[in-house]
Amino acid sequence: MKALVLAGGTGSRLRPITHTAAKQLVPVANKPVLFYGIESIVEAGVVEIGVVVGDTAPEIRAALGDGSRFGARITYVHQPRPLGLAHAVRLARGWLGEDDFVMYLGDNFVIGGIKGPAEDFRATAPDARILVTRVPDPTRFGVAELGPDGRVIRLQEKPREPRSDLAVVGVYFFTSAVHRAIEAIEPSARGELEITDALQWLVDSGHDVRAGAIDGYWKDTGDVTDMLEVNRRVLADIEGAVLGDVDATSVLVGPVRIEAGARIVRSTVVGPAVVGAGSLVQDSRIGPATSIAEGCAITGSDVEYSLILRDARIEQAGRIEGSLIGRSVRVTGAALAPRAHRLVLGDHSRIQLAS
Ligand code: DAU
Repeated sequence: MKALVLAGGTGSRLRPITHTAAKQLVPVANKPVLFYGIESIVEAGVVEIGVVVGDTAPEIRAALGDGSRFGARITYVHQPRPLGLAHAVRLARGWLGEDDFVMYLGDNFVIGGIKGPAEDFRATAPDARILVTRVPDPTRFGVAELGPDGRVIRLQEKPREPRSDLAVVGVYFFTSAVHRAIEAIEPSARGELEITDALQWLVDSGHDVRAGAIDGYWKDTGDVTDMLEVNRRVLADIEGAVLGDVDATSVLVGPVRIEAGARIVRSTVVGPAVVGAGSLVQDSRIGPATSIAEGCAITGSDVEYSLILRDARIEQAGRIEGSLIGRSVRVTGAALAPRAHRLVLGDHSRIQLAS
């Protein structure tokens, strides 16, 4: 079995972060979302991995390389424009050949991995196998309707009126039958070649399409709320370790990971939390559920339930919570300034002012 990882697309719901960075590389507990996916593919015994890349190809290639750091062999497939998940499979057709494969959407997060579902697919040998999970808001996802025996009978892509609350998770197991389906379908109303339509074609033409429940926790890290929640869930399992310096007046509470070269000075860090290599936390309070990446400086501030990306500086900023702060961003308090906000914000930035 091979794997096809989709890491193209635009990531419009994570703007402005995704103006300058691939959404699949936004870190969760200081490790890119995409790395968790690749690791779970390798853990399921699949090492031949094709990665579909678009505009952010250089960044994705720099992060993943040839795959050897994951114990995998990575082949890149370039998709000039994000014309749909099935379009990406069509571009990879030559590399995939007649092999079975697992398609993994690079912005999906599955705690618990995909080893169990991969074993089910190998053991039961259907034409395709999808994973589903109940969600409160199915309109954001592909939605599956199942027969009593677990076979898929109908699929809808982001329906206004969903026929079930079973969302299609971004991990799909396919045999080469999917290629015939993709040749047969037309682009959808939003102009994309939808994998949902290819699956429906398989169902309609009498193929055996099965669905299984996901083992653990799943999230499509599409927007900031999802990212923060995934970060919280991943941090919940970290083990504390102090590889950097914590001065005598600082306090660490609960599981806290302080990476090498990080310095904690006159501060409190409440776990679960991570402070990345070379970062400084001074006269501050960090956590819980907070990841601070490498090379940051947090001084005189209180940061809770947030993701702070690398090289950001937060100085005398008061209390920050539920926030995603991008790379090299600078946030400063204005204690001596008149009561006015001075802002330099990029396109599509979102801020919430306390007063
Ligand atoms: O996350 C699960 C959902 O993923 C499913 O429930 C939906 O049925 C499925 O269509 C998909 O919906 P999204 O709207 O979330 O897909 P998105 O456009 O965010 O793309 C998913 C990943 O695939 C993302 O990492 C970008 C990449 N991609 C996307 C497109 C459209 C590509 O590499 N090429 C593409 O052409």
